[in-house]
Amino acid sequence: MAIAMTTGYSAQTEGALLCIEAASDWALTCVNQLAVADSHVLIDYGAADGGTAVGLWNQVLDRLHTNQPKAHLTLIGNDLPSNDNVALAKNLALQAPRDPKPTVLVSACSFYKPTVAPNSVSFGFSATAMHWLSTSPGPLDSHTHVLASSDAEALQRFTAQAMRDWNHILELRSRELKVGGRLLTVNLSRDEAGLYLGHNGGETHNVHDQLHQIWRGMADEGLISDEQYRNGTVLNFYKSPQEFMAPLNDSSSAPYRNGLRLVDERTVYVKCPYRRRWNENGDTATFAAGLMATIRSWSRHSFIGAAGEAAADTLFERLQQRIADAPSDWSLDYVEHHQMMEKVA
Ligand SMILES: C[S@@+](CC[C@H](N)C(=O)[O-])C[C@H]1O[C@@H](n2cnc3c(N)ncnc32)[C@H](O)[C@@H]1O
Repeated sequence: MAIAMTTGYSAQTEGALLCIEAASDWALTCVNQLAVADSHVLIDYGAADGGTAVGLWNQVLDRLHTNQPKAHLTLIGNDLPSNDNVALAKNLALQAPRDPKPTVLVSACSFYKPTVAPNSVSFGFSATAMHWLSTSPGPLDSHTHVLASSDAEALQRFTAQAMRDWNHILELRSRELKVGGRLLTVNLSRDEAGLYLGHNGGETHNVHDQLHQIWRGMADEGLISDEQYRNGTVLNFYKSPQEFMAPLNDSSSAPYRNGLRLVDERTVYVKCPYRRRWNENGDTATFAAGLMATIRSWSRHSFIGAAGEAAADTLFERLQQRIADAPSDWSLDYVEHHQMMEKVA
């Protein structure tokens, strides 16, 4: 199934912007370490409309231009063909007038395929995108998200698919990077305590459990069929730090054999900006609408694919109502894994 964020992506995802800001120090470290060259290609994999990364690319381009004033810079925004790539082109074009007048391009292509020429990328970056699986690992019958389910057999299948996908993504990126090039991935993850996006250990509701409860209730009421209920699966996976590092700790893996090496890694926590604002102003209606919209921005396509737009609309209306009824029980907190890599040979 094609993945597509709802339109106006960056306006609805303040949390993703904060996640990118939290990685800007390592993005600058990466470009500081690039050897002097006539030109550099920089690429943002899974950029959506590019709005959340405008500030990051401002800083990165400025820094690289300061370090290497003679180098020509090319910035490529990548996302699926189904993405709003016109909006992406417009946000990339905001960088074009600045010195050294970088070339900006859109690559409308899955990051599960080669996106640019081999040995061409100096700095690859991706934020909050590479958790989407390339294909369904089979049924998940009892929940809408495998990590919130208690289905051990499904968890094994999803984990195996996630690891195949991650190895494949890193293999492709290791071919695209030039020797000395850097790759920084900022991915939704699962920490050592098992926390992940929307699951903060019980401080507030598990958002995935809430989505599932509403979806299950719609099946019980006959609003969706049992088959539609079962097909309502969010096909993504939040890997652990060990899982993220695994291909780089295995000298027989394809990315390792292509020269990709781990430089550093860390787990970063970003608290829900909608909840923080509600704590300050108590505006429940705005909180419920904003939090619902940000959850909808990444999950809507999964429910539309299973049961159509009307069913998805009902789900998100009910979600907004739940948030409005008990706002202190809600927060969408992020757990992100940062992994800095270099191609050494
Ligand atoms: C949550 S958005 C993140 C956007 C932006 N990087 C950010 O951090 O704000 C995830 C993006 O990943 C894109 N995406 C998902 N699977 C993809 C794939 N296989 N190839 C390219 N982009 C993909 C989606 O289309 C979506 O725009």
